[in-house]
Amino acid sequence: MREADVVGKRVLVRADLNVPLEDGCVADDTRIRASIPTLRHLLDRGASRVAVCSHLGRPKGPDPAFAMTPVTERLRELLPDDRVHVLENTRFDSGETANDAATAARLADGMDIYVNDAFGSAHRAHASTEGVARLLPAYAGLLLEQELEMLGRLLGDVERPFVLVAGGAKVEDKLGVLVNLGGRADHVLVGGKMAAELASQSRLEGLKLALPVDVVAASSFDADAESMIVPADEVPDGWLGLDVGPDARARFAELILGARTVFWNGPMGVFEWPRFAAGTKAVAQAVAAADAFTVVGGGDSVRAVQELGLADRVTWISTGGGASLELLEGKELPGVAAIPSA
Ligand code: 3PG
Repeated sequence: MREADVVGKRVLVRADLNVPLEDGCVADDTRIRASIPTLRHLLDRGASRVAVCSHLGRPKGPDPAFAMTPVTERLRELLPDDRVHVLENTRFDSGETANDAATAARLADGMDIYVNDAFGSAHRAHASTEGVARLLPAYAGLLLEQELEMLGRLLGDVERPFVLVAGGAKVEDKLGVLVNLGGRADHVLVGGKMAAELASQSRLEGLKLALPVDVVAASSFDADAESMIVPADEVPDGWLGLDVGPDARARFAELILGARTVFWNGPMGVFEWPRFAAGTKAVAQAVAAADAFTVVGGGDSVRAVQELGLADRVTWISTGGGASLELLEGKELPGVAAIPSA
């Protein structure tokens, strides 16, 4: 994008402004703030109009609950400039997710240049992320470029020890990353629901897995459930491991603190409930304290780092959930592939 001549040009920017809403207001504006440098750059370079488009949520058609209004208001507060216009939710048009040619043509209509800065949506081949890139001169935005550079470093020659920390509930989503990136890691630490489910995954043979030795077991899935610390293989029948235990926390922290490169995706337990948050907290603190190139991706682990006030001490916090996983899995991202220079 830096090389594009934008003076007097009308620029269509695809950003990922898919932010969480609460009571009709933006609950976390991280993605909006992350999109500002590209918009400011275009304005500073003399663009005459900057039309920003994004999806918000997963509406199946026009739906007032997913209107862009709260996002537009927050963006205006952060970047008050009359040349910036936020278009309505791209997913109000069913042609968006179908990557329909007419939808892409409507987006391109009246525009001179297309800039894709939506890293978080780059794994989607939609009209606003892929189709329109074929109709206008297309460039990568600053955030997209930075995400590819930072996450790309993990796929190259990393400084060792390289520690991969994986957690959360969605094992299927993360298996590809464990196989692709985990095979190159010196230690693969696994917590959360994943740890219990991994035993059955033969694809992970050969990985240097560090599984939790102990867990905080709870009598039911409840914030106030009766709980106790037990060895990981001695969870009583009917009980659930809702966090990693103190010995696992100490071991995980030790390995992370000794690393020179760390990628973390997924909480170690049900960290929204304080009694089961210690494992995630210990990992977040170790990642922040490590003298290493550290990358955190995925909504829940990013939220944990932010809530603990540790975001400034992590090298790179990715704005992409699914997109960062697919990139690290070694997949091509359609939104990136459609940009000639990216
Ligand atoms: C995300 O939040 O991961 C992106 O904005 C993509 O959203 P989607 O999974 O609804 O396509």
